[in-house]
Amino acid sequence: MKYILGVDLGTSGTKTVLFDSDGNAVASATVEYPMYQPQNGWAEQDPEDWYRACVETIRQVVSGSGVDAGDIAGMGISGQMHGLVMLDEEGKVLRRSIIWCDQRTAKECEEITETVGRERLIEITANPALPGFTLSKLLWVRNHEPEVFARCCHVLLPKDYVRYRLTGDFATEVSDASGMQMLDVPRRQWSRELMETLGLDTGILGKVYESCEVTGHIHEEAAALTGLRTSTLVVGGAGDNAAAAVGTGVVVDGKAFTTIGTSGVVFAHTSGLAIDPRGRVHTFCCAVPGEWHVMGVTQAAGLSLKWFRDNFCGAEKETAAQMGVDPYELMNQEAALSPIGSNRLLYAPYLMGERTPHLDSNCRGMFLGLSAMHTRRDLLRAVMEGVTFSLEDCLRVLQEMGVSPDRMLACGGGGRSPLWRQMLADVFNMPVATTVSTEGPALGVAILAGVGCGLYRSVPSACEHMIREKQVQMPVEENVRAYRPVYEVYRQLYQANRAVFDQLSRL
Ligand code: XUL
Repeated sequence: MKYILGVDLGTSGTKTVLFDSDGNAVASATVEYPMYQPQNGWAEQDPEDWYRACVETIRQVVSGSGVDAGDIAGMGISGQMHGLVMLDEEGKVLRRSIIWCDQRTAKECEEITETVGRERLIEITANPALPGFTLSKLLWVRNHEPEVFARCCHVLLPKDYVRYRLTGDFATEVSDASGMQMLDVPRRQWSRELMETLGLDTGILGKVYESCEVTGHIHEEAAALTGLRTSTLVVGGAGDNAAAAVGTGVVVDGKAFTTIGTSGVVFAHTSGLAIDPRGRVHTFCCAVPGEWHVMGVTQAAGLSLKWFRDNFCGAEKETAAQMGVDPYELMNQEAALSPIGSNRLLYAPYLMGERTPHLDSNCRGMFLGLSAMHTRRDLLRAVMEGVTFSLEDCLRVLQEMGVSPDRMLACGGGGRSPLWRQMLADVFNMPVATTVSTEGPALGVAILAGVGCGLYRSVPSACEHMIREKQVQMPVEENVRAYRPVYEVYRQLYQANRAVFDQLSRL
């Protein structure tokens, strides 16, 4: 039996899972790391933390699984997207990575739009300039830390930095590269035109592959540290959302998934190129060679609940530790005791600004409608509902573009909550299913590794072989009707407070 390894380099931690060639998880390990927020709206991580977490989780999985390392044919890495890793001539990290949810680059986005031209920028990169994307982060370093920029010889994404440390190759693949805003997304290659217009050298970027192509193999030093063999091939892998798509079988037209991880995403596969002229959703290359996907992003989905847990749920955390259960389970039970609409309490999840549909890095989160009768359980439910409404905003933009799925797969940490899935089913007014394997991105990149190593013919046929749906939750008519007016009020929150957000950001 051959085995395949999937590494999921997320924002809160890295999870590594070893699968057999039928997609069954054999062993898994997770290591967490911090996110640094030196200023309101900034977010950074240390690439060394990612590398250490990858090495440690691979080592645990390989040694704990009882599998002969020689049978691990291939490995793929799924990564949090957009993070900027800058290396000097010797391959040493120059500064902490500015990661996807950092919002400091509004000015650089204006600079990009003015220099390249809004229309041409969308023609080349399929997206408007956004603070989340890597390009504006690179220009921010050029504008604010010229001495760091001057020493920069390589720019990599988070997962591609780990690839570099494990294999020695400067490489990336089309799905994650799409989120750098330096790729010609229709042509799937770096845009020389865009880079030259902005005075940047394409030589700083790694070689671009399709997601299931082999980019190299584990080198000797990494083999000694992880327990892998140098014969293990490493494929392109994918950005976390493109990887989750493969891991849930969303690899053909008509299929869609919603993930509630740190961020929230509503994602649909499109075999042809579809672009929102207003740029409210992203169009990226997907992990199926020659095809694309569109997705709307809620910046702080799971992050909203984690923020609430860490600041207001000390009691649940303590009880959960005593009972040996996950604090989120207890929080879910609490939230379920509050009615639909959280007793007329609304939450807007803009803790890190918002992408879909507002494209505004200055807006911030809020509770609206607080009354002396509210308790913590109403606040908890309002957080979950606010995130769900924001995901409905994403879905509505896709529908406007003619991408109209009639059922949804749910994944990510939040997708494991039956209460949250029922909210999605009721607010989206469509069936919401889960898959038997809940390893989304890790399974996705392991499948890509299997295709790259020749274990499967193609990404869709591997998915057909390995991915099974289970547990469909249907919308409940009465709930659908109850959520509708609440969502209509929620929709007004952003516009009604836009000027206030701007004033607040200038304080
Ligand atoms: C997608 C995005 C996030 C990150 C972190 O554009 O920024 O989903 O990939 O998960």
